[in-house]
This record gives sequence, C-alpha cells and structure tokens, in this order.
Amino acid sequence: DLPSLRAVINFDLPGPTISRHVYGHFAEHLGRCIYDGFFIGDRGDVPTEGGIRLDVVEALRALRIPNLRWPGGCFADEYHWHDGVGPTQNRPTMVNSNWGDVVEDNSFGTHEFMALCELLDAEPYISANVGSGTAREAGEWIEYLTRSDDSPMARLRRENGRDEPWKVRFWGLGNEPWGCGGRFGPKAYAQVARTFGTYSRDHNGNKLYRIAAGASTDDYQWTEVLMQELGFAIGSGEATGPGVGAYDAISFHYYTLPGTWAQKGSATQFDTEEYYRTLAEATRIETLLAGHSAIMDAYDPGKTIGLVLDEWGTWFDVEPGTNPGFLYQQNTLRDAIVAGVHFDAFHRHADRLTMANIAQTVNVLQAMILTDGAAMVLTPTYHVFEMNSGHQDATSHSVDLLDEVPSVLSGERAVPHISTSASSKDGQALISITNAHATDSAWLEFELRGAKVAGVAGRILTAPTLQAHNSVDVGDAVSPRPFEDVRMNGTTLLVRVPQHSFVTVQLELD
Ligand code: AHR
Repeated sequence: DLPSLRAVINFDLPGPTISRHVYGHFAEHLGRCIYDGFFIGDRGDVPTEGGIRLDVVEALRALRIPNLRWPGGCFADEYHWHDGVGPTQNRPTMVNSNWGDVVEDNSFGTHEFMALCELLDAEPYISANVGSGTAREAGEWIEYLTRSDDSPMARLRRENGRDEPWKVRFWGLGNEPWGCGGRFGPKAYAQVARTFGTYSRDHNGNKLYRIAAGASTDDYQWTEVLMQELGFAIGSGEATGPGVGAYDAISFHYYTLPGTWAQKGSATQFDTEEYYRTLAEATRIETLLAGHSAIMDAYDPGKTIGLVLDEWGTWFDVEPGTNPGFLYQQNTLRDAIVAGVHFDAFHRHADRLTMANIAQTVNVLQAMILTDGAAMVLTPTYHVFEMNSGHQDATSHSVDLLDEVPSVLSGERAVPHISTSASSKDGQALISITNAHATDSAWLEFELRGAKVAGVAGRILTAPTLQAHNSVDVGDAVSPRPFEDVRMNGTTLLVRVPQHSFVTVQLELD
C-alpha cells in the first residue's frame, strides 16, 4: 500500500461554482461521429427520430450533457451552413479535406443538429467558419437560427420548416486558427475574431457568448495577445478601445498523447511505462489551466473573460484496419483515469474555466459511446462523466492535502498517484478520487470541515487490468459498482482506494 494521506476539505469556506458546461461535449463531421454515430438517416436497424439514433440520445441524457459543440473542429472552417439547410436531396456535397478526404453529403445540417440538441436537452455550441468563410456568412447563420421576424434569414428558416427561432448562446469564432483554421498569427486572428464577433449579432434577446479560438497547449502568448486585443492592459483591470466586448471567452486545446504525433501509441496495447507516460501528459492539464489563467488574471482580475477548453482528451493511433482519417480508438480504464484527473483540475479552476468539451462524443478519439452497426457500448470514460455528474453547477471546495502525495517519475515529469476534488450542492457533497498507481492501493483520511454527514455512499470504477475495455464482443468489462471501503470516523472520512481506480463518495449532509 501507499502511505496514507491526510486531507482537509473546506466545506465551511465559499468556493466558485463549477459550471456544468465543463462537462461539455464535441461532435464533428469526422469519421463515424455524426454519420453512423449520432445520425443514421432511415437505415432502420435502430429506433430513430428524424434520423437521430435514440439509443445514443438516451445514453447521453443519463449524463445530463450540458452542451454539444459542432460542426468542428477543423471541419468548421470549411463548412458552409447554407449547404446544409433545405430539402436534403437539393443539398450540395463537399469534400471533407481534413478527415479522410471523403465526400460529405450535408444530410446532417443546422436543423438536424438543433433537433439533436433538443433531444439531448443540451445547449448548442456552434463554431462559425472563420478560416474560409465570411463575416457575412457567420452573421446570416445566427440570424437564421435566432431571429423571429420576417428578416431574410428568418424567412428562409421558415421556408425550411422551422417557424420558431432557436436559442443559441455559445458561438465559436473559428477553430485552431494557428493551424487548420487559417494559419493566422495571434494578432491577425484576434483582429479577425473582433470582426466576426461584431457581425455575429444578438437578435431578439438572444445573447451570444462569443468564444475566440485560442492556443494550442502552452502557447500562453496566444492567450495574452487575445486579451490585449480585447482592450485589456496589465494592471488596468478594465478593457478600453475598439476591441471591447468582441468576445466573451478565449479557448485553448490540449490533447493527451503518450507518444509523438507520428506514433501516438496504441489505445489498448501499452505497458506500465507507457501508462505512466500517458498520465504524465494528462496531469499537465493542471499547469496549463494555471498558466492560461495566470495570464488572464494579470489583465482581467475581475474574471470577466472566460477560459474554455473546447477540445481535450486522449489521442492514440487508430484501431488497426480502420481509416486513419477517422480517428477511431478504443477506450480503456486508462482513459477513465485520464478523465478523472482532468475533472479534478477543472473543479480547482472553476473560477476561470467556463466550459470544456471532450473530443469527441461518439466513435472518435476519447469517446463516451462506440457504435458497431445497431449495437453500441458505453466506454470507461462515459462512466466517469456519469459518476461525476453531481459536480455540475455545484460549489467547488478546496481539498488541502496535508501529506506530500507520492509520485512516480515519467521522463522529467512526476505523476502524482492521487488526485481528488470535492463539491457540494443541495444538501449533498461529492468527492472524486483517482488512484493512478498501477499496483498500489491508498488510504485517504479526509477531515470534513463544516459538514455534518448523515449518510455515505461510495462507487468505484476499476478492472483487473489497465487495458480493460468494453466492446460489443466482450461486453462490459469496466462499469461502476457500489464501493464499501468508505466510512466515517467522527468528522473524518476514511477511504481505501484500490490501485488504478476512480472512486466517488456521495455524502448526505445534515
Ligand atoms: O478533434 C479532432 C481535431 O483535433 C479537431 O478537428 C481539431 O480542432 C483538432 O486538431
């Protein structure tokens, strides 16, 4: 066993609210995410509504997914929304140059996406095309979506069968503009984002939350330039000048890869060393959130501008025999551990992080659901989202570790064995604990300050091996179970967390 660790959870201190939107999702026109994953048209082997798979919808509703980002990703900067509305047979086709060079038939467009969001009860997060589109095209799209009078785009929407406008809050101004989104430098992009932000109007009381596309990983300079172009100066705390209000948030992307972009590593065939390398990459999220937040704090101490991590997750080599452009990968217990570590960091940075979106929801990268014809499986990552769903919109409480957390060295990075976070809401508290150690269990003693506990219930997600995964053939090898190794001793909560496991403890508060 690892030495036992003592921690204090400060339920008596105020904390920021964990936006439910950090449990957000991402669905791109990429591989089998939209087509075959969410949308199967009239294929007929699975119940659908308007071509949307209802088994997938039902599984995601159980996660209470708060938002869904669409249509990309890189795809968004080549997507022309006019091609995806009106009678399906009249819609032009296009080449999906980023993902497999396949022909996209545009049968899933704006109306289908908004219907999907309604079925999921999730807010849409739409990324406008900044790379190859125009500010006019983006402006017309939001007019089409949200305007109620007889404006030209509202009329077109009605002709296409939708009378009532939709509500759209989250509006992305392009994607990865330093790469597939147009190869901009930060200043050039920020100025274009200001233009697109201006012409993407608020119609009929629909208030947009405009999200400027941001940095890759630790490109802190990108974040800094975007803050400056909003009119902030260090120390002034208030924005002035023409950029004020052009966007409300700045995003960044961070993927966890154990290897290089050329050889990322297999999703299922890995040894302990590669496992720790993956965890070393995953735990960087703490440093990255702190780094981007520190820049933003220097310009905007009042935290008026949000930080958005609108792509995160593991990225491995595609499964053998699958299209390299489709990014289809299996999902093991290792992915669940990666997710647990990310969420703890999100909860700790709840004061600045307003949204995060895992890439991607179905059949692509670190997915929640993998489909195989009419069958589907829930991945270990799905279960972490479900077990953690009680953190959504709860108050984040700091967890102060009194002992040094043991760690293992992977290259130059230390991988802490234990990661934990806590929140409370409506008379309930939720504590999440990840034991990343490959072989050793750990005892944790939490002193609960300011909480009177009336009931304790634990759940655990683990499996005999790190490589365990769920598949249509093998079934559910990794799914949550009730967990008994948790008890109260006075005001102290004692938990024995087995190796490579993710545990949640729900407390009934008096
Ligand atoms: O999620 C897959 C791709 O990763 C997205 O399209 C792009 O934004 C990122 O590089």
